[in-house]
Amino acid sequence: MSKKQVIIDFGDGRKVELPVFDATLGQNVVDMRNLGKYGYWSYDPAFLSTAACESKITFIDGDAGQLFYRGYPVEQLAEHSTHLEGAYLLLNGELPTQKEKDDFEREITLHTMLNDQIYSLFKGFRRDAHPMAMVTGVVGALAAFYPDSFYFKDPKIRKISIQRLIAKMPTLTAMCYRYTYGLPFMFPQNKLNYAENFLYMMFATPCEDYVVNPVIAKAFDRILLLHADHEQNASTSTVRIAGSSGTHPFSAVAAGVACLWGPSHGGANEAVLKMLTEIGDESKVDEYVAGVKDKKYRLMGFGHRVYKNTDPRASIMRKTCYEVLEVLGKKDDPLFKLAMKLEQVALSDDYFISHKLYPNVDFYSGIILRAIGIPDSMFTAVFALARTVGWLAQWQEMITEPDIKISRPRQLYTGSVARNYVPIEQR
Ligand code: ACO
Repeated sequence: MSKKQVIIDFGDGRKVELPVFDATLGQNVVDMRNLGKYGYWSYDPAFLSTAACESKITFIDGDAGQLFYRGYPVEQLAEHSTHLEGAYLLLNGELPTQKEKDDFEREITLHTMLNDQIYSLFKGFRRDAHPMAMVTGVVGALAAFYPDSFYFKDPKIRKISIQRLIAKMPTLTAMCYRYTYGLPFMFPQNKLNYAENFLYMMFATPCEDYVVNPVIAKAFDRILLLHADHEQNASTSTVRIAGSSGTHPFSAVAAGVACLWGPSHGGANEAVLKMLTEIGDESKVDEYVAGVKDKKYRLMGFGHRVYKNTDPRASIMRKTCYEVLEVLGKKDDPLFKLAMKLEQVALSDDYFISHKLYPNVDFYSGIILRAIGIPDSMFTAVFALARTVGWLAQWQEMITEPDIKISRPRQLYTGSVARNYVPIEQR
C-alpha cells in the first residue's frame, strides 16, 4: 500500500480518505471497496478506469506499446521461446528448467485425445455451424466428462484440469474444421510438437503422409504464444467472473470462448479479412478510408482499448507474415498487397494518427492464417485455442486467492420508481 491517499469530499461535511495501492508497473489504484459504506458506488461502465483484480501475470504498457508475460517482453519470448514454454511461464510464474519443460510438454501430450463420446456430440451439429459455436459447446460439454475438475481446490486436480484443457483444445478445434468440411477426424500424433500437431490434425488425411513445414509450424506457434494472455480483456474478465462463482473450470473457459467470438474482440481478424474482401482492390482504399473517417464503419484490425501506440504483437506478426508468404510463394497475394496499402494510408492519415489508431495483432494474423490454409471462419477458434492458456492462468490466480468473492457489480438504476401492479383490464 502507498502512503498516498485519495480524498473524496461528499459535499455534506463528510470526507473519506481512500487508500492507494502501488503497482509494480503501470497505474496505481484507489481502493474503492469501502465507498459503499458512505452511500455511493463508483460508476464505470465497461471498466474504463476500474482494476477489477490484482494480478501478477501479464502487463501491457499501452503508451509505450509493450507487453510483458510475467515481466518478460513478449518480443523476447516470440524470438526464443515456444507457446508451451510460455504457457508454463504464465501458469507458474517462472520460466521452466529443461526438466520442468520436458515434463510439462510430456504431461500435456498425455491428454491430447478426447473421450470417444465427443465424436457423437459433433454429429449433432449442423455442418455449417460456426466453429466458435461448436468450440463453445464442446468446451462446455467437456465439463460433463471431467466431474472431478469441480474439486479444483485440490492442487493436483487443478493441475490436471489445466493440462487437460490445454492439451485438448487443438484436438477439438481441428475437429470443428474437419467436421465442417466432412473430413475424417485425425487423431493427435504425440511425436509432434503442439503447433505441428494442430496443423497435422487440421490438414493431414489418412491416405497420405503429411509433413508439417517447419517455417509454418514456427509461425503458427508464434501466433499462439502472442495470443496466450493479455491482461484483463473482455474474455479473460468473463472467465474470472464466471469462475468467481466456483463453477467448473471448463464451464468458465466456455464462457470466455463465447465472449471472444465478438468482432470487437477475437472476431476481429475474421472481420479484417471480410473488410479486405469488401474493399476488393487497392484503388478503393482511399474511398474506404473516407467512409471510416465519416464514421460509417470502423477500420477492422486497427485500434485497441489499451495500446495507444504500436501493438508489439502486431510488429512481430507483420514480420512473421512476410516469412510465411515468402515460404509459401504468396508474396504477391493481392489481399496482402491491399492490406499493406491500407496500412500505409492509415498510418499517414491525420484521423488515425490523432486517434492513436495503429494496426493491432489481428490485422496481420488473419493474413497469415489464411495463407496457411486456415479458413476465415476458424480464425477466432484458433485465437481461443491460444488464449486458453491465459484464461486458465488467470482463473488459477483468482481461485487460489485466500479471500475469493463472487463478482457482483453494482448499477446506476435509472428505471421506474416503485409502483403497484395494475390489473390488465385497468391498463
Ligand atoms: N476505426 C476507426 N475509428 C476508430 C477505430 C477503428 N478501428 N477504433 C476506434 N475508433 C475511433 C472511434 O470512432 C472514436 O472516435 P471519436 O473519439 O472521434 O468518437 C475513438 O476512436 C475511440 O473509440 P472507442 O470505441 O472509444 O475506443 P475503444 O478503446 O473503446 O475501442 C476497439 C477499442 C473496440 C478495439 C476499437 O478500436 C475497434 O473497434 N477496433 C476495430 C476492431 C478490432 O480490431 N478489434 C480487435 C481488438 S484487439 C483484440 O481483441 C485482440
